[in-house]
Amino acid sequence: MYFRRYRLLKVLPILICLIIPLYHVYRSLFNSIKNQPLIINKETKSLISFDLNKDFEEISENLPPFYIRLPNFSDNEAKNWFYNSTYYKINSKTCSNNSCEQNGILFNDIKEHLSVKIAFIKNGLYLNDDCGYNYGDTNIRRTFQYDNEATVIYDKAILYTVPDGWAFQHFLDGIGPKLSHSRSYLDKYPDAKIIIISGARFDRSVKEIWSLLGVEESSRIIHYTGNMKVGAHLLINPCRTPGIHPRLWHDAREMYWSISNISKSLNENKRINFIYIQRTPSNAMNGGRLILNEQSFIDLLKEYCLKNSLNYIQYDHSKDVKHIKHRIELFYNARYIIGVHSGALSNMNFAQSGTTIIEIMPFRSSTSYLPMTCSMFNPEDLKACAGYILYTQSQLLNQTYWMLPTVVNNQGNMNVDLNRVKNLLQQI
Ligand SMILES: *[C@@H]1O[C@H](CO)[C@@H](O)[C@H](O)[C@H]1NC(C)=O
Ligand SMILES: *[C@@H]1O[C@H](CO)[C@@H](O)[C@H](O)[C@H]1NC(C)=O
Ligand SMILES: *[C@@H]1O[C@H](CO)[C@@H](O)[C@H](O)[C@H]1NC(C)=O
Ligand SMILES: *[C@@H]1O[C@H](CO)[C@@H](O)[C@H](O)[C@H]1NC(C)=O
Ligand SMILES: *[C@@H]1O[C@H](CO)[C@@H](O)[C@H](O)[C@H]1NC(C)=O
Repeated sequence: MYFRRYRLLKVLPILICLIIPLYHVYRSLFNSIKNQPLIINKETKSLISFDLNKDFEEISENLPPFYIRLPNFSDNEAKNWFYNSTYYKINSKTCSNNSCEQNGILFNDIKEHLSVKIAFIKNGLYLNDDCGYNYGDTNIRRTFQYDNEATVIYDKAILYTVPDGWAFQHFLDGIGPKLSHSRSYLDKYPDAKIIIISGARFDRSVKEIWSLLGVEESSRIIHYTGNMKVGAHLLINPCRTPGIHPRLWHDAREMYWSISNISKSLNENKRINFIYIQRTPSNAMNGGRLILNEQSFIDLLKEYCLKNSLNYIQYDHSKDVKHIKHRIELFYNARYIIGVHSGALSNMNFAQSGTTIIEIMPFRSSTSYLPMTCSMFNPEDLKACAGYILYTQSQLLNQTYWMLPTVVNNQGNMNVDLNRVKNLLQQI
């Protein structure tokens, strides 16, 4: 006994010496996590097993507030233009002094920006409710009692009925953030139907992403139309989720990278793609926004790439017949992406943090309030502008963003000022 106690006395100081530094390492790790401005730490969300004896269950999580920085401008013309916009006028109201310039605009509305929820409803009934953060408490709990209250009843269904979710752009900006926190249930319930809004088309790229997620159109996708009353014995509703939060967008991007098996080369030097997203009369869904002096513009970009050992790529999505996974890889390796404001720019969702995005923002000089992309019927009624969606996305994705506002002619097309472009390229 005596001998043992003696050994313990010898070991104790050694143990103490070990524990103290370990405690410090632990403390500093903890603090460095706590002090990160944009908290994008992966938390493994526990997968709940829904207990069908319960009628309703909702998992919710509040994400931390976040900032969106103001765009970068290469000249005062661009800066003044933006500062005159309704977007800036609304949002800068909440910034004190120059805090908008320094930190960006703060997004901290619990319901609209932070609160992520997923609901599980036994015998749930869906009646064309808007799939978004405003989904009402009563509506989300709606159930059917008799089969004739529904036009169709599935055993299990998951709702992704965001507007135009069948289109590539709105799959990414509408369904993506909701998938990022509910994706695990696609695998957990492989027989669950996936409800999306029915549209004029169903973009091939969207179909392919669903398929990579294990959701085949033929067996699982339901194209919802407004007159359907969809019942499900287990209805899963991930709709009450902010449309914008960096965590959701980062997670969605990780998901696209992972399902397409791209090789994530750690070598930053290999990331040399300079991608010009081309808008042509044949590839655009809406008219206008064409660059009239495109050839000189392209020559300028090519010259810049040559000088900087970048790989110039001209991307026309209508000519891209390959599987979406190749496109995800192409944009994963982008260092610069440039283009006129258009849905095809949302391919930035596949590009890494730190990628530089240059958006040529078309506007009409004749409108008294700017930009044309958010012109209102009533100028007193300042609403957020959909025209800034790509700028916002770039910030959610932690990318570097430059805005180049450019005036359009009566047909909505433009001559890009090459000196301004040259000036911009010198600054990136
Ligand atoms: C925008 O604001 C600046 C000053 O902030 C002003 O000089 C200019 O006329 C305004 N309009 C446009 C179209 O830039
Ligand atoms: C704004 O600036 C004024 C004058 O420089 C200063 O007194 C005030 O404390 C500032 N407000 C904030 C919130 O920083
Ligand atoms: C990715 O890799 C997994 C496992 O090797 C494979 O099952 C899957 O088909 C691959 N997916 C694609 C899109 O290549
Ligand atoms: C944002 O991007 C920079 C590189 O541009 C990187 O160092 C940083 O870790 C990223 N932050 C997050 C939260 O992803
Ligand atoms: C503006 O550019 C700087 C320098 O490249 C970058 O650190 C910053 O994030 C950019 N701002 C935006 C809003 O992208």
